[in-house]
Amino acid sequence: MERLQKVIAASGITSRRKAEELILEGKVKVNNKIVRELGTKVSANDIILVNGVMIDKNNIKKYFLLNKPRGVISSVSDDKKRNTVIDYIDTEVRIFPIGRLDYDTTGLIILTNDGTLANIITHPKNNVSKTYIAKIEGILNKNDIEKLKTGLVIDGKKVVVKNFKVKNINREKQTSLIEITINEGRNHIVKKIFAKLGYSVIRLTRTKIDFLELCKLKSGEYRELSIKEVKKLYSLKTNIK
Ligand code: URA
Repeated sequence: MERLQKVIAASGITSRRKAEELILEGKVKVNNKIVRELGTKVSANDIILVNGVMIDKNNIKKYFLLNKPRGVISSVSDDKKRNTVIDYIDTEVRIFPIGRLDYDTTGLIILTNDGTLANIITHPKNNVSKTYIAKIEGILNKNDIEKLKTGLVIDGKKVVVKNFKVKNINREKQTSLIEITINEGRNHIVKKIFAKLGYSVIRLTRTKIDFLELCKLKSGEYRELSIKEVKKLYSLKTNIK
């Protein structure tokens, strides 16, 4: 169940403020009855008319930010019946994940039914940055750091590392924690970067997608993106052809 004005605004026909005005003016009907209560909750089965025009529920866009747990598939279904990211989101809308995180990678993933936004986030020309914390086996040497700074060629294509930081070194266990920011979304790209340098990744978490951060989301928890956040994501589209 969702608030009526939120559903109207999400359908894209008007803003939430304008939707509230329309409700108060008696211009909104739910299941053929005029509704003037702003707090009214509606479900996917309710028929909503605004100024006599039915809201197209297929047009309602939803955006979720999930902290993906380990051992979960980043797709809408799995033929081996493993848990998918969709199983974590309580919605009647048919959503899909934007990009993918490996089965054993944890952290931020956006789920939506908005294909336009998915294209903006995944298209390489938009340079949407993603930040990961990788626990690697070993300790980077000067040569590795130089290679990370100048960029590496992975599968015949250069990958630019926007930023990286050695967050922690455990000399006893010979492991390191590295924060790495890249602009691209090729599959297994972080693991491939470290493999190229000769290190295996023991644990990987995506902590940021551009300005979106994990913050208080615990493993398996999600929240909806605000309209402001969605607009900001849309603004990442570059007009360079
Ligand atoms: N890079 C990887 O290697 N794995 C992920 O899941 C995401 C980025």
